[in-house]
Amino acid sequence: MNRHAARDPQNADRQTRNVKTLPIPIRRVAPADGACPAGDAPATTVVDPYRIDPAHAQSEIMRATGLQKSYRKGPVEVPVLRGVDLTVRRGELLAIVGQSGSGKTTLLHLLGTLDAPDEGEIHFDARRIDNLPNVRRDELRNKRFGMIFQFYHLLPELNVLENVLTPLMIAESVWGYLLRRRSYRRRAAELLDLVGLSHRLKHKPRELSGGEMQRTAIARALVTRPDLLLADEPTGNLDHETGEEILEVLRGLNQRQNLTIVMVTHDPSIAGQADRVVRLADGRVKSEKEEVRSER
Ligand SMILES: Nc1ncnc2c1ncn2[C@@H]1O[C@H](COP(=O)(O)OP(=O)(O)OP(=O)(O)O)[C@@H](O)[C@H]1O
Ligand SMILES: [Mg+2]
Repeated sequence: MNRHAARDPQNADRQTRNVKTLPIPIRRVAPADGACPAGDAPATTVVDPYRIDPAHAQSEIMRATGLQKSYRKGPVEVPVLRGVDLTVRRGELLAIVGQSGSGKTTLLHLLGTLDAPDEGEIHFDARRIDNLPNVRRDELRNKRFGMIFQFYHLLPELNVLENVLTPLMIAESVWGYLLRRRSYRRRAAELLDLVGLSHRLKHKPRELSGGEMQRTAIARALVTRPDLLLADEPTGNLDHETGEEILEVLRGLNQRQNLTIVMVTHDPSIAGQADRVVRLADGRVKSEKEEVRSER
């Protein structure tokens, strides 16, 4: 049986092993043919995005077709992506590798709607997202995607807990945030516990190690309970051992919470632990390697 189909988070395995789990998100989403791409209205169905129906475990969460992107350097147009086709399966850990300058970050930014392609389309949850108006993209990023970066991008004047809460502050009105502040703080604290930082809640980023900063960034990326985590070199600024620890956290979220993760990495040993590896070269996806780990 396919490994994805077999990965049912309700299975006995999760219950018997002493595994920390994310607070289970129950989200109201629009019907598949609904008009709202960010899924916050109109509400008809109660779903848990981490609890994958085995029948749909193999389905794709994101599909990019024919993506092209060029940057202008003075009068010269420099093509970076020349027709990238990529499918992300629900519940997988996908690694994107490629030489420096091959366009990995560019691709991740397109997938995360931080930038728009010149040509091509991106579909997320069967809805086209690359041509959404800015306000819709912001909403999508805030509610459905989590993002982590090589250099963490934590706010230096806020402590760890406050940093993790920032996406919720942005997503909510002041009044809405104040109303739910307690449960949000509890959720953030639970996530920080999950990534092993419960003893650092009041620390400022400058008082943290690189690995701790990245753990904070992971908790921040998860606090809105995203369906898809996009990670750009999450271990790239860390020593090997700390990088392995961060990967362990990501893999745990992927395996135990069925969180779909797309991760850019330079490190072959990190990529080798993904379910699938796609290589970018000459502006295209050059090869796809399926990794089937017997342990999962
Ligand atoms: N905003 C920009 N303006 C102009 N050129 C850019 C811009 N962003 C990226 N590029 C160029 O696009 C190419 C791809 O950049 P990108 O950052 O996507 O590569 P990468 O594969 O992530 O590289 P690395 O592994 O070093 O992070 C590079 O040649 C880069 O110089
Ligand atoms: Mg990059």
